[in-house]
Amino acid sequence: MTEENINPSSQRRALILGIESSCDETAAAVLDMPAGRVLSSVIASQTDIHALYGGVVPEIASRAHVEAISNVTYGALREAGVTLRDLDAVAVTAHPGLIGALLVGVGFAKSLAFANNLPLVAVDHIRAHAAASYLTPERPEPPFVALVVSGGHTTLFDATSRTEYALLGRSRDDSAGEAFDKVGRLLGLPYPCGAAMDALAAEGKRLNAAARDADGATAVPSGTASPEAVEKTSVKIASPSTIPHFHSSAIDDDSLDFSFSGLKTAAVNYLNTLSQRGEAPDKPRFAAAFTDAVVDGLVRRLADALDRTGRRTAVLAGGVAANSHLRAAAKAICDARGVALCMVEPRYCGDNAAMIAAQGYFELVAGNTAGWSLNARAD
Ligand code: KG4
Ligand code: ZN
Repeated sequence: MTEENINPSSQRRALILGIESSCDETAAAVLDMPAGRVLSSVIASQTDIHALYGGVVPEIASRAHVEAISNVTYGALREAGVTLRDLDAVAVTAHPGLIGALLVGVGFAKSLAFANNLPLVAVDHIRAHAAASYLTPERPEPPFVALVVSGGHTTLFDATSRTEYALLGRSRDDSAGEAFDKVGRLLGLPYPCGAAMDALAAEGKRLNAAARDADGATAVPSGTASPEAVEKTSVKIASPSTIPHFHSSAIDDDSLDFSFSGLKTAAVNYLNTLSQRGEAPDKPRFAAAFTDAVVDGLVRRLADALDRTGRRTAVLAGGVAANSHLRAAAKAICDARGVALCMVEPRYCGDNAAMIAAQGYFELVAGNTAGWSLNARAD
C-alpha cells in the first residue's frame, strides 16, 4: 500500500471513462478523478424487458447491451462535454457477471482504448460497488470493512487499500437482492421488487407501531389485518399473527458467510400455504417481518466483521444498500461501536458506470492496467 494509493491529494488528475454491462444495465460515465466529480453518468436499464420474464434472461441482456452500448457511451461523453481525446483511460467491468453481457462491454472498451491509444483498466464489479463510496462527501479512506449487497452478490470485504481487498464472507446460496425479488414477485410486485418491498415494509412497520400503541405495548402484530390489505382484495386476509417469526439461517461455523435460501423458502412456504387455503397475506406486515429478517442477517455479520477486524470505518454498497431499513440498522450498529459508516448515495447503489470509473482510476494509478488479451470472467 503506497502513500499515493491512500492520499487522493497526492494523486495525478485523470479523466476516466467507465463502462458497465455485467447484468441488465448498460452504463457509461466520465469521472474527473481523484476529485470524485461525476461529469456524466448514463444508464440504459433493461428492467422493462426482463420484467416480462420475472428475471434477467442472459441472452436477451447481451443483445440489448450490443444495441445500447455505443449510444450510451457517446451520450456520456457528450453530457460530460469531452471527446475521446480528452480521456486518460477506459475502465470496464471484466468480472463477475453474466458472461455474454460482460463480453459486450469488454470487447467495446477494448476497441475504444486500442483505437485511441488509451490505457485499458479491468474492474471487479463488487469492488466497484464499494468504490461508489468515494463519490460521497465522506470519501472514506481505507482500511474499511465493506458490505456489498446486490441482486447477484452478498459480500463482506476488508479493504486494506483502494485496490486490495480481503474477502471476509459471502452468501453461500442466494443473495439478499434475489430473496427480495423472489418473495416480492409472489406478492405480485413488479420486478425488480426491492424498492417496492422497501415501501411495503415501511407501511407494515407503521401499522405494527400503531397497533402496539393502541394495544398498549404488545410486541406482536394485532390480530386484525391492515386496512390497506383489506381494501385491495376481496380474498380473506390471513391474520398477521400467522406470520412466522422469520430469521436468516445461522451458519453454524465461525465464518462470516451469509445464507438466505432458508429464509426465502420459509417465506415462500408461508405464502403458498395461505394460497392453498384461499387466503392472502397481510402484505405490508409480511414484508416488514421478512425485511427485518434479511436486514438482521446482514447487519449481524457486518457487526461481527467490524469486531473481528477492529476497523473504524464501514461502507454499505450495492443495489440493496438503497434499502431504508438496512440503512437504519447498519447506522445503529456502527453508531453503537463508534464506527464511521459511509452509505453509498441511493443513485449510485444500483449498477452504474461512475463506480466503475472510480475504481478504475485507483487501479490505473496503482499500475493495474490490462493487456490487449483481456477477457471477461463470470465468477
Ligand atoms: O447492484 P444491483 O443494481 O445489481 C446487481 O449487481 O445485482 O442490485 C439490484 C438489486 C435487485 O435485487 C433489487 O431488487 C435490489 O437491488 N434493490 C433493493 C432496493 N433497491 C434495489 N432491495 C431492497 N431495497 C431496495 N430499496
Ligand atoms: Zn451490481
